[in-house]
Amino acid sequence: MALPLVQGPFGGGLSTVALASAVSRRGGLGSFGAHLVEPDGIAGLVAELRAACDGPFAVNLWVSDHDPGGDAASPELLAALQQIFAPYFRELGEATPDPPAAFHPSFEDQAEALLAAAPPVFSFVFGVPRPAILDACRRRGILTIGAATTVAEALALDAAGVDAIVATGFEAGGHRPSFLSRAEDSLMGTMALMPLVVDRVRAPVIAAGGIVDGRGVRAARALGAAAVQLGTAFLACDESGASPGHRAALFGEGAHTTVLTRAFTGRLARGLRNRWTHEMADRLSALAPFPIQSWYVGQLKRAAVAAGRTDLVSLWGGQAAPNLRHHTADALITSLLPALATSEGTA
Ligand SMILES: Cc1cc2nc3c(=O)[nH]c(=O)nc-3n(C[C@H](O)[C@H](O)[C@H](O)COP(=O)(O)O)c2cc1C
Repeated sequence: MALPLVQGPFGGGLSTVALASAVSRRGGLGSFGAHLVEPDGIAGLVAELRAACDGPFAVNLWVSDHDPGGDAASPELLAALQQIFAPYFRELGEATPDPPAAFHPSFEDQAEALLAAAPPVFSFVFGVPRPAILDACRRRGILTIGAATTVAEALALDAAGVDAIVATGFEAGGHRPSFLSRAEDSLMGTMALMPLVVDRVRAPVIAAGGIVDGRGVRAARALGAAAVQLGTAFLACDESGASPGHRAALFGEGAHTTVLTRAFTGRLARGLRNRWTHEMADRLSALAPFPIQSWYVGQLKRAAVAAGRTDLVSLWGGQAAPNLRHHTADALITSLLPALATSEGTA
């Protein structure tokens, strides 16, 4: 890739081929978050990305597809969820939907489909794929990128032989993809995490979390980043899959107040405070584990977005959102070019 720039993948249906291709056309690495894509949809997605992207692109999966207790919902849990969700669905004029046969696609099945489709880059979060999957990537020439929130996770990824490691500071929007300790115990900022990781791993390190402009790019590269990964700044662009209300919120006053919450998916993630994060704050122990919570919130989101509402949906965003300036990937990348061209760092 010509630019040391990665467009962070977005799960939850917020990635688009248009955004990934806009970034890859400019020489960065466009990414598509595919953790909700069923295994039989992966070949088609990779074909679409291949056709649209001039350069390399990454397809991203979540290695751990459920938390303890999240693989099946007991009748008691379903009844408790009905109590929590029914008033909100009623408010939106809908009945609480019946649970699906499976709350999330299986990572193992997705990985098999991904290996067959062989995208240029496979990036992943929430764990390290088993050695056979990483071996198969190497044989097929698929580069691998894993994400770490602590030094221990970076060392685990390095030992597994991944091609690059994303060091993700807690400033970042979206999930805290911790996999060795609880996310709440893995809250390192990009400034502290980057040099600790760079000094201890063989793989090139990509800095993520809190970078939205040239100053952030320069700082990350001074800390030893081979490249930078921006999420929130690309999510705010017109090409992303964020709803118009979500994008407007990222540019609004509310972007000054982000929270780390399990209220949307059962996993800790950063987004703008809204009615849902507020009303769930003292009910967190009653919520379901991932992906059950995530499925119900996803259904509520579908209804809320259709009604133009932002109070009941996840408004993912990172701490640096109040400094967002650009509404298209092209304008954002152009603004970053002087900083991306500096020789600091190891790229
Ligand atoms: C809405 C949203 C969804 C995300 N989903 C994923 C994902 O599925 N996989 C992943 O590796 N990273 C995901 N991320 C993390 C980003 O790719 C990126 O690392 C992060 O946003 C960088 O921090 P920043 O938001 O401060 O720029 C997500 C981020 C956001 C904001």
